[in-house]
This record gives sequence, C-alpha cells and structure tokens, in this order.
Amino acid sequence: MPEHLNPHEKAAATEASWIASRGEALGGEVLVPGDKSISHRAIMLGAIAEGMTRVDGFLEGEDTRATAAIFGQLGVRIEAPSDGERIVHGVGLHGLQAPAQALDCGNAGTAMRLLAGLLAGQRFDSVLLGDASLSKRPMSRVIEPLAAMGAVIASDDGHAPLRIRGGQALHGVEAVLPMASAQLKSALLLAGLYAHGETRVREPHPTRDYTERMLGAFGVPCEFSPGVATVLGGSVLRAVDVSVPADASSAAFFMVAASIVPGSDLLLRKVGINPRRIGLLHVLRAMGANIVEQNKGEQGGEPVCDLRVRHAPLHGIEVPLEHVADMIDEFPALFVAAACARGHTVVRGAAELRVKESDRIVTMATGLRALGISLDETPDGATIHCGALHGGSVDSRGDHRIAMAFAVAAQCASGEVAIHDVANVATSFPGFDALARAAGMGLRDA
Ligand code: S3P
Repeated sequence: MPEHLNPHEKAAATEASWIASRGEALGGEVLVPGDKSISHRAIMLGAIAEGMTRVDGFLEGEDTRATAAIFGQLGVRIEAPSDGERIVHGVGLHGLQAPAQALDCGNAGTAMRLLAGLLAGQRFDSVLLGDASLSKRPMSRVIEPLAAMGAVIASDDGHAPLRIRGGQALHGVEAVLPMASAQLKSALLLAGLYAHGETRVREPHPTRDYTERMLGAFGVPCEFSPGVATVLGGSVLRAVDVSVPADASSAAFFMVAASIVPGSDLLLRKVGINPRRIGLLHVLRAMGANIVEQNKGEQGGEPVCDLRVRHAPLHGIEVPLEHVADMIDEFPALFVAAACARGHTVVRGAAELRVKESDRIVTMATGLRALGISLDETPDGATIHCGALHGGSVDSRGDHRIAMAFAVAAQCASGEVAIHDVANVATSFPGFDALARAAGMGLRDA
C-alpha cells in the first residue's frame, strides 16, 4: 500500500471496490429488496406483540438483520424459514428480557434510535452500540426528548454507546421536534407505548408514517395525520402478518439510471409508493423524467405499483422544499441526475444530509468533482451544474447510498469509475451489483 495515504484512505484501500463504467441501455424488469424501514418495524412491533407475526419481503440487509439479532438477545424467538421470511414469536409489551451483553446496531441509525425509545420503557438496563459511522451520528436529538418523558440515557457526549437505565416511570408528553425525522418521531411513539397517558409528536415537515400505520395495524390506538401523531400508553399489540413492499429508496438508483442512459426502458416491480417516500418521483418528473405508474395495488396496507422508467432528457430545477423530507435518502441519486440535467439544480432545506451515514453533501460533492462536475455547496444543500462526467476514482466513505449513486453516475461517464469502500451496500441493498448488471449497467468487482 502506498505510504502517502492518510488513515482513512488506507482503510478504504483495504475495503471492497467496484469498477463501474458505461453499460447498455437499461431494460427488463427489476424487483428490488424489501423496504428497510418497514422491515425494522415489523421485527420490533412483532416482538412486543401478543402472538406470532409472519413477515414476508423482509430485507435481508445487515441493518435489519442487526435488529432481528438484537431481539434475539432480548429473549424473542425469531425464525427465518427462508430468505425474506421471518416468524416473530411476540412476547407481549412487557415480555422482553434483560440482555446479557451490549446490543450492536452496526450501521443502522433506525435500529439505534427506535430502540432507544423502546428500551427506555423496559424494567432492565441495556446498552446500544454502533459501528464507527453510527457512533459519530447525533443521538442527543433522541436522548433529550426521551429524557423529557422520564427516560434515563447516558451517552458519550451525545453519541453511542447509549446506556439506557431501566425501571423508569415514563409519562406522555407533547413533543415538538426541531427537525423532520421519522426515526426521532418513532422513538418517542415507541417510548409512548410504555408511558402513562398520551404521547403526541409534532414534526416540522411530515415524515414517513410507518410506525403510526403499523401500530394501528397491530391494534394500538394511534391517531395520525401529516405532521402529528398520537399514541396511548399501555396499549396491547396483537400480532398481524406484515408483507413488506420493495424499497422506494433502493428503486431510486434504477429510476435515475434508466432516466439518464439513452435508450433505457426499465420496469421496476411492486415498489412501495407511500406518499411520504416518493419525493424523488415528483422531482424527477419535474426535471422531465418519463416514469409511469402501472398496476397500482396494495401490499401489506401500503400502496405499491410498477414503475416504468424510460430515458428522457432531464433539466435542472429548484427542488421544492415540500419534497425534501419525502426523498431524504434519495439525494445521492438525485445529485447524479442533476449532474446529467441541462442547467442547474438547486437543493435547499436538506441539512439533515450532513448527519446521514456520511455527510452526503460533502461526499457527493467530492466524488462528483472528481468526475468533472462542478457544484456549489451550501450549509443545507448544493447547486449542481450540468457537466460531462469523466472517469476517475471516488470514495463512498463507507456510505451505501453513495456507492450505489456513483455506480449510476458511471453509466454516463466517458471513462471507468473506481468506487472504493462498497462493502456497506449490503446494509440496505444486498445483491445490488448483480441486479444492476442484469439491468444493463456496467459494474464489476475491482
Ligand atoms: C428512517 C428515517 C430516515 C431515513 C432512514 C430511515 C426510518 O431517517 O434517512 O434511512 O426508518 O425511520 P431520519 O428520520 O433521521 O431522517
């Protein structure tokens, strides 16, 4: 290994890498894996329900498997009869057992934040750990409102590990969240199950409402409308089967790839199109994309459809603020679309991107610049200027969505793109590379 590399570069050099390059026009049909957010929640609610919850379409990603493993440590029997299937033997609201060891959330922010709420209401102590990336992400945002409910959580200056003291009497609150975060809202609602009285959460912009919907499906009185959700403490959960639709955030990479590669005509099957998840669909259409919804239906109480995506010339826009929270995980893909869209694309109101698995504004800007694109960064977004992508070398900084976004960018680049540190793709989208190749993308292991 060359001596001049800094420690981060040295670590990255030892990780898996891809070489991505122009492939063919994208075509055929793609079924992306199950929704990550719903998969986490199906395990969590199934675990504290009365009875047996069968989950199909479960995401076999590292993040969601970490959640399942944690509930195993909490005394919940979870069977995995086949890939994408789980049978959760619920232990009831008060049936979780003290874990013998710390609970490792790996890279999963959703696991850590939601579990902080759920575990704050238990009789026993617990410790939540994360990997290096998760240990850098802000946890005060969840610790402070939980403390206002009576929770006792110690942290390392607002970061994991989180040491949660059991045996606290939680009480319902009316919380007004400073940022739009479904993880934060969900943490409070889960703590609210163990609190005396009602817990009401208001958010500055509506975020994904899976916790609310699923609590309702499990028989818990949970009222919600965009931007506000209320749950009543002490409610019993009754097991129901959960059928997980395909993840809109995973579909996003293919939506962008088929939009920017000439000649593409791709069918994305059975994608979850919950209104809180389709900001990118609205924005790509406003940029000129040709995406048609077909075979609309329902899966597990969620709206789904096939998305037919054909290549179309894109033009830059100012991304409407109302869509930002509804596409918060799709900005890496959007930045790539923007680099290929005539004119300029302006992103504002997206400061949350700075505290994702990486600082996604910096990571995307650094990588796109390395491929010949110019961008102006701002504290809460960026202006991306259309340009001609050339080959080069980019680093995902361990961020799954950055790695996949650059695989897409390479489909329009004049040379090969080396993408370093791609192992984390398995956290949310195991098998992305094989599906991408089958659809026509040029992508191989380095
Ligand atoms: C998620 C919420 C979002 C999203 C994450 C999954 C969830 O995070 O980025 O991938 O399942 O609730 P924030 O709520 O922090 O924005």
